[in-house]
Amino acid sequence: MTAPTAAGPTGRAALLAPLRGTVLEVGPGPTSNLQQLDPGVHWIGLEPDTTAFPLLTRLADRLGRPVTLLDGVAEAIPMPDGSVDAVVGTYVLCSVDDVECSLAEIRRVLRPGGTYVYVEHVVAERGTWTRFGQRVWGTATMAECRPDRDTGTAIDAAGFADVQRATAYVTGFLGARIPVIAGHATA
Ligand SMILES: C[S@@+](CC[C@H](N)C(=O)[O-])C[C@H]1O[C@@H](n2cnc3c(N)ncnc32)[C@H](O)[C@@H]1O
Repeated sequence: MTAPTAAGPTGRAALLAPLRGTVLEVGPGPTSNLQQLDPGVHWIGLEPDTTAFPLLTRLADRLGRPVTLLDGVAEAIPMPDGSVDAVVGTYVLCSVDDVECSLAEIRRVLRPGGTYVYVEHVVAERGTWTRFGQRVWGTATMAECRPDRDTGTAIDAAGFADVQRATAYVTGFLGARIPVIAGHATA
């Protein structure tokens, strides 16, 4: 584990700044990480909620950047093997239907040596009230955003060559300390 390296609890800006070439963002929502990426990056956004597209288009126009928007899911990325230099996913593996399949797809579309940058909220440590609450909430509500996923373990098991990670904590409901993992991995 390394400490966060840039402003903000997760060091997201520092993780995004070095990325170059073609960058695929999975689940960018209406906001995305486009503004934090180098202006030379060719950004592709893969998002199943197409109501986000007009806002993303407006943002791209405002920044004067050509972007590509794809309607699809991380479990079946509509792109060839090894076709991107980096994949970015922030707060998205909590929402996908199948985490392992999504990670396999992310690795598939990355070129050899390409970088996966992630920021994800994850299940709290064993034996904590926060973890208990996350499990109850996630199971009882069948929430679209699952708070009780052990996403770090899934990333570790996904077959990347080098996984780096820092953990920060954000305060949630009733003061719960929710871990947020942020890092990068190499295809
Ligand atoms: C919590 S939002 C995060 C949005 C943005 N990445 C951020 O950091 O604020 C989760 C996003 O993942 C998208 N999403 C849900 N299921 C997905 C899937 N299977 N594949 C890709 N994106 C998905 C949602 O539509 C939504 O835009």
